[in-house]
Amino acid sequence: MNIRIAGGRLTDPTIGLDSMGDIYIKEGVIAAIRAEGFEQGDIPEGDTQQVDVNGALVTPGLIDLHVHFRDPGFCYKEDMTTGCASAAAGGFTTVCMMPNLKPITDTPELVADLAKRAEGIRALPVGSITMGQKGVEITDAAGMKAAGACAISEDGRSVMDAAVMYRAMEAAAKADMPVFDHTEDDSLAGTAAGEAVIAVRDMLFAKETGCRLHLCHISCGLCLDAIRAAKANGLDVTAETGPHYFMFDKSRATHGHFKMNPPLRTREDVQAVIEAIKDGTVDVIATDHAPHSAEEKLCGYDKAMNGIIGLETSFPVSYTALVRGGHISLDKLIRLMSCNGAAILRDDSRGTLKVGAAADVAVFDIDTPYVIDPAAFKSKGRNTPFEGMEVYGRTLLTICGGEIVYRA
Ligand code: DOR
Ligand code: ZN
Ligand code: ZN
Repeated sequence: MNIRIAGGRLTDPTIGLDSMGDIYIKEGVIAAIRAEGFEQGDIPEGDTQQVDVNGALVTPGLIDLHVHFRDPGFCYKEDMTTGCASAAAGGFTTVCMMPNLKPITDTPELVADLAKRAEGIRALPVGSITMGQKGVEITDAAGMKAAGACAISEDGRSVMDAAVMYRAMEAAAKADMPVFDHTEDDSLAGTAAGEAVIAVRDMLFAKETGCRLHLCHISCGLCLDAIRAAKANGLDVTAETGPHYFMFDKSRATHGHFKMNPPLRTREDVQAVIEAIKDGTVDVIATDHAPHSAEEKLCGYDKAMNGIIGLETSFPVSYTALVRGGHISLDKLIRLMSCNGAAILRDDSRGTLKVGAAADVAVFDIDTPYVIDPAAFKSKGRNTPFEGMEVYGRTLLTICGGEIVYRA
Protein backbone atom coordinates (compact mmCIF):
# COMPACT_ATOMS: atom_id res chain seq x y z
CA MET A 1 0.00 0.00 0.00
CA ASN A 2 1.18 3.53 -0.79
CA ILE A 3 1.57 6.10 1.99
CA ARG A 4 0.79 9.81 1.81
CA ILE A 5 2.33 11.89 4.59
CA ALA A 6 -0.03 14.85 4.48
CA GLY A 7 0.32 18.41 5.70
CA GLY A 8 3.90 18.49 6.96
CA ARG A 9 6.69 21.03 6.97
CA LEU A 10 8.92 19.17 4.52
CA THR A 11 12.60 19.92 5.08
CA ASP A 12 15.55 18.61 3.10
CA PRO A 13 18.62 20.80 2.60
CA THR A 14 19.97 18.51 -0.15
CA ILE A 15 17.15 19.55 -2.51
CA GLY A 16 16.50 23.04 -1.12
CA LEU A 17 13.11 22.02 0.29
CA ASP A 18 11.50 23.76 3.25
CA SER A 19 7.77 24.19 2.73
CA MET A 20 4.37 22.84 3.67
CA GLY A 21 3.13 19.88 1.68
CA ASP A 22 2.75 16.13 1.16
CA ILE A 23 5.11 13.23 0.45
CA TYR A 24 3.94 10.16 -1.46
CA ILE A 25 5.63 6.79 -0.92
CA LYS A 26 5.31 3.74 -3.18
CA GLU A 27 7.10 0.40 -2.89
CA GLY A 28 9.63 1.66 -0.37
CA VAL A 29 10.65 4.66 -2.41
CA ILE A 30 9.74 8.37 -2.39
CA ALA A 31 7.43 8.69 -5.38
CA ALA A 32 6.34 12.33 -5.29
CA ILE A 33 6.49 15.60 -3.40
CA ARG A 34 3.77 18.23 -3.60
CA ALA A 35 4.68 21.29 -1.57
CA GLU A 36 4.28 25.04 -1.85
CA GLY A 37 6.63 26.08 -4.65
CA PHE A 38 8.04 22.54 -5.01
CA GLU A 39 6.77 19.68 -7.16
CA GLN A 40 8.61 16.47 -7.99
CA GLY A 41 7.54 13.03 -9.29
CA ASP A 42 4.16 11.51 -10.13
CA ILE A 43 1.48 10.91 -7.50
CA PRO A 44 1.17 7.10 -7.32
CA GLU A 45 -2.13 5.40 -8.13
CA GLY A 46 -3.77 2.68 -6.08
CA ASP A 47 -4.51 2.07 -2.39
CA THR A 48 -2.98 4.81 -0.25
CA GLN A 49 -2.81 5.11 3.53
CA GLN A 50 -2.98 8.80 4.48
CA VAL A 51 -1.07 9.92 7.57
CA ASP A 52 -1.93 13.48 8.62
CA VAL A 53 0.96 15.14 10.44
CA ASN A 54 -0.72 18.51 11.09
CA GLY A 55 2.17 20.82 10.32
CA ALA A 56 4.85 18.75 12.05
CA LEU A 57 8.44 18.72 10.80
CA VAL A 58 9.20 16.04 8.16
CA THR A 59 12.87 15.22 7.56
CA PRO A 60 14.96 12.50 5.95
CA GLY A 61 15.32 9.56 8.37
CA LEU A 62 18.12 10.28 10.82
CA ILE A 63 21.45 8.44 10.57
CA ASP A 64 23.59 7.55 13.60
CA LEU A 65 27.11 6.45 12.67
CA HIS A 66 27.90 5.28 16.20
CA VAL A 67 25.80 2.95 18.38
CA HIS A 68 26.39 -0.02 20.68
CA PHE A 69 23.58 -2.59 20.52
CA ARG A 70 25.36 -5.15 22.79
CA ASP A 71 24.03 -8.13 20.84
CA PRO A 72 25.54 -10.73 20.88
CA GLY A 73 27.20 -10.97 24.26
CA PHE A 74 25.68 -8.32 26.50
CA CYS A 75 21.96 -8.56 25.86
CA TYR A 76 21.12 -7.63 29.46
CA LYS A 77 22.21 -4.08 28.47
CA GLU A 78 20.45 -3.97 25.05
CA ASP A 79 19.61 -6.40 22.27
CA MET A 80 18.90 -6.11 18.56
CA THR A 81 15.15 -5.78 19.13
CA THR A 82 15.33 -3.04 21.78
CA GLY A 83 18.23 -1.27 20.05
CA CYS A 84 16.35 -1.05 16.76
CA ALA A 85 13.14 0.00 18.58
CA SER A 86 15.06 2.73 20.42
CA ALA A 87 16.52 3.98 17.12
CA ALA A 88 13.10 4.06 15.45
CA ALA A 89 11.64 5.91 18.44
CA GLY A 90 14.35 8.54 18.02
CA GLY A 91 13.65 9.07 14.31
CA PHE A 92 16.68 7.03 13.18
CA THR A 93 16.40 4.79 10.11
CA THR A 94 20.09 3.88 9.73
CA VAL A 95 22.57 3.15 12.53
CA CYS A 96 26.11 1.74 12.53
CA MET A 97 26.75 -0.91 15.20
CA MET A 98 30.18 -0.90 16.78
CA PRO A 99 32.02 -4.25 16.97
CA ASN A 100 32.91 -4.46 20.69
CA LEU A 101 30.55 -7.40 21.19
CA LYS A 102 31.07 -11.00 22.32
CA PRO A 103 32.27 -12.35 19.97
CA ILE A 104 33.87 -9.21 18.54
CA THR A 105 32.71 -8.56 14.98
CA ASP A 106 36.01 -9.41 13.32
CA THR A 107 35.22 -11.82 10.44
CA PRO A 108 33.04 -11.72 7.32
CA GLU A 109 30.92 -14.55 8.82
CA LEU A 110 30.17 -12.60 12.01
CA VAL A 111 29.39 -9.49 9.95
CA ALA A 112 27.00 -11.50 7.77
CA ASP A 113 25.25 -12.98 10.85
CA LEU A 114 24.69 -9.51 12.32
CA ALA A 115 23.68 -7.90 9.04
CA LYS A 116 20.70 -10.26 8.76
CA ARG A 117 19.30 -9.38 12.16
CA ALA A 118 18.25 -5.72 11.89
CA GLU A 119 14.59 -5.16 12.78
CA GLY A 120 12.55 -2.44 11.08
CA ILE A 121 15.36 0.05 10.70
CA ARG A 122 18.73 -0.52 8.98
CA ALA A 123 21.33 -1.55 11.55
CA LEU A 124 24.66 -1.89 9.75
CA PRO A 125 27.56 -3.83 11.27
CA VAL A 126 30.94 -2.19 11.72
CA GLY A 127 33.84 -4.67 11.64
CA SER A 128 36.79 -4.39 13.99
CA ILE A 129 40.19 -3.18 12.75
CA THR A 130 42.14 -6.02 14.41
CA MET A 131 41.26 -9.60 15.33
CA GLY A 132 39.62 -9.63 18.75
CA GLN A 133 40.40 -5.89 19.03
CA LYS A 134 43.77 -6.98 20.36
CA GLY A 135 45.68 -4.50 18.19
CA VAL A 136 47.98 -7.06 16.53
CA GLU A 137 46.54 -8.80 13.46
CA ILE A 138 44.42 -6.82 10.99
CA THR A 139 41.01 -8.12 9.92
CA ASP A 140 39.80 -8.84 6.38
CA ALA A 141 38.30 -5.41 5.61
CA ALA A 142 37.36 -6.24 2.02
CA GLY A 143 35.72 -9.52 3.07
CA MET A 144 33.75 -7.81 5.84
CA LYS A 145 32.61 -5.13 3.40
CA ALA A 146 31.37 -7.81 1.00
CA ALA A 147 29.49 -9.37 3.95
CA GLY A 148 27.73 -6.09 4.75
CA ALA A 149 30.03 -4.05 7.00
CA CYS A 150 29.76 -0.29 6.44
CA ALA A 151 33.11 0.58 8.07
CA ILE A 152 35.87 -0.73 10.33
CA SER A 153 36.50 0.57 13.85
CA GLU A 154 38.33 -0.44 17.02
CA ASP A 155 35.80 1.55 19.08
CA GLY A 156 36.36 1.38 22.81
CA ARG A 157 40.08 1.85 22.24
CA SER A 158 42.66 2.87 19.65
CA VAL A 159 45.02 0.63 17.69
CA MET A 160 48.15 1.67 19.54
CA ASP A 161 50.73 0.03 17.25
CA ALA A 162 51.25 2.64 14.52
CA ALA A 163 52.41 0.11 11.91
CA VAL A 164 49.34 -2.05 12.46
CA MET A 165 47.04 0.97 12.10
CA TYR A 166 48.88 2.09 8.98
CA ARG A 167 48.44 -1.32 7.34
CA ALA A 168 44.78 -1.42 8.33
CA MET A 169 44.22 1.99 6.77
CA GLU A 170 45.94 0.86 3.57
CA ALA A 171 43.59 -2.14 3.45
CA ALA A 172 40.55 0.06 4.16
CA ALA A 173 41.58 2.43 1.37
CA LYS A 174 41.92 -0.49 -1.02
CA ALA A 175 38.49 -1.80 0.02
CA ASP A 176 37.07 1.77 -0.24
CA MET A 177 35.74 1.49 3.28
CA PRO A 178 35.77 4.24 5.92
CA VAL A 179 37.62 3.89 9.23
CA PHE A 180 35.60 5.09 12.24
CA ASP A 181 38.37 6.09 14.61
CA HIS A 182 38.19 6.07 18.42
CA THR A 183 41.17 8.30 19.17
CA GLU A 184 42.76 7.73 22.57
CA ASP A 185 46.43 7.16 23.32
CA ASP A 186 46.59 4.43 26.00
CA SER A 187 49.38 6.18 27.87
CA LEU A 188 47.33 9.42 28.05
CA ALA A 189 43.91 7.78 28.46
CA GLY A 190 41.04 10.18 29.06
CA THR A 191 43.03 13.35 28.36
CA ALA A 192 42.55 15.94 25.62
CA ALA A 193 46.18 15.44 24.55
CA GLY A 194 45.62 11.68 24.28
CA GLU A 195 42.57 12.24 22.07
CA ALA A 196 44.37 14.73 19.83
CA VAL A 197 47.63 12.84 19.38
CA ILE A 198 45.96 9.74 17.88
CA ALA A 199 43.66 11.91 15.76
CA VAL A 200 46.71 13.69 14.34
CA ARG A 201 48.60 10.42 13.79
CA ASP A 202 45.67 8.92 11.91
CA MET A 203 45.09 12.08 9.84
CA LEU A 204 48.72 11.80 8.70
CA PHE A 205 48.11 8.15 7.84
CA ALA A 206 44.92 9.07 5.95
CA LYS A 207 46.91 11.48 3.82
CA GLU A 208 49.54 8.84 3.08
CA THR A 209 47.17 5.91 2.47
CA GLY A 210 44.17 7.71 0.92
CA CYS A 211 41.96 6.05 3.53
CA ARG A 212 38.58 7.64 4.29
CA LEU A 213 38.96 8.62 7.94
CA HIS A 214 36.03 9.52 10.22
CA LEU A 215 37.00 10.65 13.73
CA CYS A 216 34.59 9.47 16.44
CA HIS A 217 33.24 11.42 19.42
CA ILE A 218 35.58 14.43 19.31
CA SER A 219 35.26 16.26 22.60
CA CYS A 220 37.95 18.93 22.98
CA GLY A 221 39.26 22.12 21.45
CA LEU A 222 42.81 20.80 21.12
CA CYS A 223 41.68 18.04 18.80
CA LEU A 224 39.15 20.21 16.94
CA ASP A 225 41.87 22.78 16.16
CA ALA A 226 44.00 20.03 14.61
CA ILE A 227 41.06 18.77 12.52
CA ARG A 228 40.23 22.32 11.39
CA ALA A 229 43.83 22.82 10.27
CA ALA A 230 43.92 19.48 8.43
CA LYS A 231 40.70 20.29 6.61
CA ALA A 232 42.06 23.74 5.67
CA ASN A 233 45.06 21.90 4.21
CA GLY A 234 42.74 19.89 1.98
CA LEU A 235 42.57 16.62 3.91
CA ASP A 236 39.30 14.77 3.28
CA VAL A 237 38.58 13.83 6.90
CA THR A 238 35.25 13.92 8.78
CA ALA A 239 34.52 14.30 12.48
CA GLU A 240 31.66 13.57 14.83
CA THR A 241 30.68 14.78 18.26
CA GLY A 242 27.84 13.81 20.59
CA PRO A 243 25.13 15.89 22.27
CA HIS A 244 26.72 15.40 25.69
CA TYR A 245 29.88 17.20 24.54
CA PHE A 246 28.04 20.41 23.66
CA MET A 247 25.63 20.18 26.61
CA PHE A 248 27.80 19.45 29.67
CA ASP A 249 31.21 20.24 31.08
CA LYS A 250 33.16 18.20 33.58
CA SER A 251 31.61 19.93 36.57
CA ARG A 252 28.68 17.50 35.97
CA ALA A 253 30.93 14.44 36.09
CA THR A 254 29.92 13.34 39.57
CA HIS A 255 27.18 10.81 38.73
CA GLY A 256 27.48 7.60 36.69
CA HIS A 257 25.02 8.94 34.12
CA PHE A 258 27.58 11.62 33.22
CA LYS A 259 30.45 9.17 32.72
CA MET A 260 31.59 8.23 29.22
CA ASN A 261 34.76 7.90 27.19
CA PRO A 262 35.99 10.43 26.14
CA PRO A 263 34.89 12.12 29.36
CA LEU A 264 33.17 15.48 29.79
CA ARG A 265 35.76 18.24 29.47
CA THR A 266 36.21 21.94 30.36
CA ARG A 267 33.79 24.81 29.74
CA GLU A 268 36.17 26.03 27.05
CA ASP A 269 36.00 22.65 25.34
CA VAL A 270 32.18 22.81 25.31
CA GLN A 271 32.43 26.21 23.59
CA ALA A 272 35.00 24.80 21.15
CA VAL A 273 32.64 21.92 20.24
CA ILE A 274 29.81 24.40 19.53
CA GLU A 275 32.13 26.56 17.41
CA ALA A 276 33.31 23.47 15.49
CA ILE A 277 29.70 22.48 14.80
CA LYS A 278 29.00 25.98 13.51
CA ASP A 279 32.07 26.28 11.25
CA GLY A 280 31.91 22.79 9.71
CA THR A 281 34.87 21.24 11.52
CA VAL A 282 32.33 18.78 12.96
CA ASP A 283 30.35 17.01 10.21
CA VAL A 284 28.13 14.68 12.20
CA ILE A 285 26.27 14.43 15.50
CA ALA A 286 26.36 10.78 16.62
CA THR A 287 25.11 9.41 19.91
CA ASP A 288 27.66 6.73 20.94
CA HIS A 289 24.49 5.09 22.35
CA ALA A 290 26.09 2.87 25.02
CA PRO A 291 23.54 1.13 27.25
CA HIS A 292 24.58 -0.32 30.60
CA SER A 293 22.59 -1.85 33.47
CA ALA A 294 21.59 0.12 36.57
CA GLU A 295 24.12 -1.88 38.64
CA GLU A 296 26.90 -0.88 36.24
CA LYS A 297 26.01 2.82 36.36
CA LEU A 298 24.57 3.55 39.81
CA CYS A 299 27.62 2.52 41.81
CA GLY A 300 29.34 5.90 42.20
CA TYR A 301 31.13 7.88 39.50
CA ASP A 302 34.51 6.20 39.92
CA LYS A 303 33.23 2.65 39.64
CA ALA A 304 30.58 3.28 36.95
CA MET A 305 31.19 1.92 33.45
CA ASN A 306 31.76 4.35 30.58
CA GLY A 307 28.85 5.16 28.29
CA ILE A 308 25.44 6.79 28.05
CA ILE A 309 22.42 6.10 25.86
CA GLY A 310 21.34 8.67 23.29
CA LEU A 311 19.06 7.46 20.50
CA GLU A 312 15.82 8.69 22.07
CA THR A 313 17.18 12.09 23.11
CA SER A 314 19.63 13.08 20.35
CA PHE A 315 17.23 14.95 18.07
CA PRO A 316 15.25 16.82 20.76
CA VAL A 317 18.35 17.76 22.76
CA SER A 318 20.24 18.90 19.64
CA TYR A 319 17.25 20.74 18.19
CA THR A 320 16.51 22.49 21.48
CA ALA A 321 20.09 23.47 22.33
CA LEU A 322 21.52 24.19 18.89
CA VAL A 323 18.60 25.38 16.75
CA ARG A 324 16.27 26.95 19.34
CA GLY A 325 19.41 28.05 21.16
CA GLY A 326 20.32 30.12 18.09
CA HIS A 327 23.62 28.46 17.16
CA ILE A 328 22.68 26.78 13.85
CA SER A 329 19.79 26.58 11.38
CA LEU A 330 17.38 23.66 11.16
CA ASP A 331 18.87 22.82 7.72
CA LYS A 332 22.30 22.55 9.28
CA LEU A 333 21.01 20.23 12.02
CA ILE A 334 19.47 17.92 9.42
CA ARG A 335 22.80 17.84 7.60
CA LEU A 336 24.58 16.94 10.87
CA MET A 337 22.07 14.23 11.79
CA SER A 338 21.25 12.74 8.38
CA CYS A 339 22.68 14.07 5.09
CA ASN A 340 26.35 14.10 6.09
CA GLY A 341 26.17 10.60 7.56
CA ALA A 342 24.73 9.32 4.28
CA ALA A 343 27.61 10.96 2.41
CA ILE A 344 30.18 9.30 4.71
CA LEU A 345 28.47 5.95 4.00
CA ARG A 346 28.48 6.88 0.27
CA ASP A 347 24.73 6.20 0.18
CA ASP A 348 23.05 8.70 -2.11
CA SER A 349 19.60 7.16 -1.70
CA ARG A 350 19.52 8.08 2.00
CA GLY A 351 19.72 11.31 3.97
CA THR A 352 17.38 12.89 1.41
CA LEU A 353 13.69 13.15 0.53
CA LYS A 354 14.33 13.43 -3.23
CA VAL A 355 12.09 11.41 -5.52
CA GLY A 356 13.60 7.96 -6.10
CA ALA A 357 15.38 7.84 -2.73
CA ALA A 358 14.60 5.18 -0.12
CA ALA A 359 11.45 6.14 1.79
CA ASP A 360 13.27 6.77 5.10
CA VAL A 361 11.41 9.60 6.79
CA ALA A 362 11.11 11.03 10.32
CA VAL A 363 8.40 13.33 11.68
CA PHE A 364 8.93 15.51 14.75
CA ASP A 365 6.78 17.87 16.83
CA ILE A 366 9.05 20.88 17.31
CA ASP A 367 6.35 23.13 18.79
CA THR A 368 5.31 21.35 22.00
CA PRO A 369 7.77 21.05 24.88
CA TYR A 370 8.00 17.83 26.89
CA VAL A 371 10.15 16.49 29.70
CA ILE A 372 12.55 13.61 28.99
CA ASP A 373 11.41 10.54 30.96
CA PRO A 374 13.72 7.50 30.75
CA ALA A 375 10.88 5.22 31.90
CA ALA A 376 9.30 5.77 28.48
CA PHE A 377 12.39 4.68 26.49
CA LYS A 378 12.31 1.64 24.19
CA SER A 379 15.99 1.05 25.03
CA LYS A 380 16.82 -1.26 27.93
CA GLY A 381 19.25 1.44 29.06
CA ARG A 382 18.21 4.12 31.52
CA ASN A 383 21.67 5.67 31.68
CA THR A 384 20.94 9.11 30.31
CA PRO A 385 22.23 12.46 31.57
CA PHE A 386 19.23 14.17 29.95
CA GLU A 387 16.55 12.92 32.38
CA GLY A 388 14.16 15.71 33.38
CA MET A 389 15.30 18.13 30.68
CA GLU A 390 12.57 20.11 28.92
CA VAL A 391 12.98 19.79 25.16
CA TYR A 392 11.23 20.26 21.81
CA GLY A 393 11.29 17.65 19.04
CA ARG A 394 9.34 14.59 20.11
CA THR A 395 9.30 11.89 17.41
CA LEU A 396 5.80 11.39 16.01
CA LEU A 397 6.48 8.95 13.18
CA THR A 398 9.38 7.02 11.66
CA ILE A 399 9.20 5.31 8.28
CA CYS A 400 12.00 3.07 7.02
CA GLY A 401 11.98 1.68 3.50
CA GLY A 402 8.32 2.67 3.19
CA GLU A 403 7.23 0.81 6.37
CA ILE A 404 5.98 2.57 9.49
CA VAL A 405 8.44 1.47 12.19
CA TYR A 406 7.43 3.90 14.95
CA ARG A 407 4.32 5.93 15.66
CA ALA A 408 3.81 7.93 18.87
O1 DOR B 1 31.72 5.63 26.74
C1 DOR B 1 31.98 4.73 25.96
N1 DOR B 1 31.28 3.59 25.92
N2 DOR B 1 33.03 4.89 25.15
C2 DOR B 1 33.49 3.91 24.37
O2 DOR B 1 34.44 4.12 23.68
C3 DOR B 1 32.85 2.57 24.40
C4 DOR B 1 31.47 2.64 24.89
C5 DOR B 1 30.92 1.32 25.32
O3 DOR B 1 31.06 0.33 24.56
O4 DOR B 1 30.28 1.25 26.36
ZN1 ZN C 1 34.71 5.22 21.34
ZN1 ZN D 1 31.40 3.98 21.06
